[in-house]
Amino acid sequence: MLSSELEKSLNEQMNREFYSAYLYLSMSSWFAVQELPGFANWFRVQTQEELVHAMKFFDFINGTGGHAIAAAIDGPPSGFESIVQVFEKSLVHEKFVTSCINKLVDQARGEGNHATDIFLQWFVTEQMEEESSVSAILKKARLIGDDGRGILMIDAELATRVFVPPAQQGG
Ligand code: FEO
Repeated sequence: MLSSELEKSLNEQMNREFYSAYLYLSMSSWFAVQELPGFANWFRVQTQEELVHAMKFFDFINGTGGHAIAAAIDGPPSGFESIVQVFEKSLVHEKFVTSCINKLVDQARGEGNHATDIFLQWFVTEQMEEESSVSAILKKARLIGDDGRGILMIDAELATRVFVPPAQQGG
């Protein structure tokens, strides 16, 4: 069972995960417009992953006696200045999400809600991976700057990313 406070916080996090999906979809669209299909693909996969995250919260809330609320999702920015700026914004966003997950863990532990604590541990690990993958691409993007050949090389690399459905992720 969830306390009303924890149910509210979990719903807020579900909404943030949907926002994350929407933010990355917007970034994917921006890259598509820049004719960089590999970057667009990478953010499209990122969008799919965020939808999985959101649905994990949806199922957990409803599965523990709560009510997952499909609240309004904020509109993300649609215009960006550069490849580096997109990844900087992504990293800032992921760090924010990490801090929210950590606060949720604190709240669950404060209430002695072990089931929620265990549920959240998957996200603690996932956030480390999310920050690390965005950070790695950001470093490369900074390194190549405006070098067209370098940009096309990264674009080709990011084109290979494929979405792995949750059943195959083991999470
Ligand atoms: Fe679901 Fe990228 O945090």
